[in-house]
Amino acid sequence: LAGLRQARSDAATPLAPVLSSHWDEDRSWTLDAYHGHDGYTALRKALRMNPDEVIQTVKDAGLRGRGGAGFPTGMKWSFIPQDPATDGTAKPHYLVVNADESEPGTCKDIPLMFATPHALIEGVVIAAYAIRAGQAFIYLRGEVVPVLRRLQAAVAEAYDAGYLGRDILGSGYDLDIVVHAGAGAYICGEETALLDSLEGRRGQPRLRPPFPAVAGLYACPTVVNNVESIASVPPIILRGPEWFRGMGSEASPGFTLYSLSGHVAQPGQYEAPLGITLRQLLDLAGGVRAGHRLKFWTPGGSSTPILTGEHLDVPLDYEGVAAAGSMLGTKALQIFDETTCIVRVVLRWTQFYAHESCGKCTPCREGTYWLVQILERLERGEGSEEDLEKLLDVSDTILGKSFCALGDGAASPIMSSLKYFRDEYVAHIAGAGCPFDPEASALVA
Ligand code: NAI
Ligand code: SF4
Repeated sequence: LAGLRQARSDAATPLAPVLSSHWDEDRSWTLDAYHGHDGYTALRKALRMNPDEVIQTVKDAGLRGRGGAGFPTGMKWSFIPQDPATDGTAKPHYLVVNADESEPGTCKDIPLMFATPHALIEGVVIAAYAIRAGQAFIYLRGEVVPVLRRLQAAVAEAYDAGYLGRDILGSGYDLDIVVHAGAGAYICGEETALLDSLEGRRGQPRLRPPFPAVAGLYACPTVVNNVESIASVPPIILRGPEWFRGMGSEASPGFTLYSLSGHVAQPGQYEAPLGITLRQLLDLAGGVRAGHRLKFWTPGGSSTPILTGEHLDVPLDYEGVAAAGSMLGTKALQIFDETTCIVRVVLRWTQFYAHESCGKCTPCREGTYWLVQILERLERGEGSEEDLEKLLDVSDTILGKSFCALGDGAASPIMSSLKYFRDEYVAHIAGAGCPFDPEASALVA
């Protein structure tokens, strides 16, 4: 949080701390602290609206999913049948929060839940009310036990205060929340694999359509939303869609959390309007580490095509990053300076995807294995020019032909690194080893 605190002290910065505004307060995670900042006031307001009005407010705000894909949140909610009693299905509705944050470089949902778990819980109650769900689940990445404990304690506080359970705040609305810890599989962040895992099965993606809104948890209409998306709902309800639209752009309105990591002077979470640029964020974060210069970066974690110093002024919103040939994704900005070997970084990412591939489809299961073999060969200095064509060929066989987004994520850094740094791959071949670090070859041998 250090970067955030320092940046916020300057009133001239383009930051917009909303979700993160109280993260550094003493005992910020308690209900008392949350009450001190209008906590659960938005819930009181939402319960006086009818569920359709709540959905319309989120639609009017233009909130887009913060898990990576940017799908409009209000529209997703409106896909849920209007009323379980009268929609002909009589099936219960569920809200599932995807808190399985695992994309390399992504570290926004975990700090949010750790610092202000009630911001998420208030959002859950409002969202569940809007989609007429009586049961919500928070599916948390299993490795972060301190966050699990903090969420469980906050849920207990919310029950005691009448924000959960029967007849919430005298409205007649009932909701229960279960906090569920996953078992550490990256693929369980894919929404349908998450649902399988929640149902007690091995987490593997399901065929879509049907999307979860039609047939999700236990084959019932289900909304799956990211933590940051849900936590953004209470401020929208409280301050209105116009206030939210006053930040960001027409197509990508509002504020969001950017995570800066790697070779940057002050890594951390920086909350700003969508459309801020990396140049502005680096100014706030003290720049690339002293004495070094930017070489390449990821706009949204390692699944998104890399960008370079040419892209410092790209607006970091969905359209701006797409126009630059990448994706905004999770807004995980990993910064690499000129001391970094591109082949080694791409190899490390590819090893991760090969390890996390669930094995369901052939392009990803086999392709990621072969990509690792080729990249290891190149990094050891035993590769050939033909290997570069093989890398592109295997990546092309994965991209757009895999069952879920993990395959695309594995191929993207390889294809984009060859686009910008082919010379560096060739240098590994010509010099029979890594030009950055001769000992690196031994490390992957
Ligand atoms: P997607 O674009 O297929 O779907 C996005 C959301 O919209 C889903 O909830 C889906 O159910 C819904 N949706 C899309 N079309 C729909 C329709 N016609 N009817 C009803 N609902 C519809 O993207 P996907 O595969 O869910 O997510 C991929 C993204 O996840 C990537 O962009 C990546 O950035 C991100 N990601 C995030 C990670 C993290 O740790 N937060 C980890 C890995 C990837
Ligand atoms: Fe599994 Fe990979 Fe296929 Fe996704 S793309 S279903 S992770 S094998």
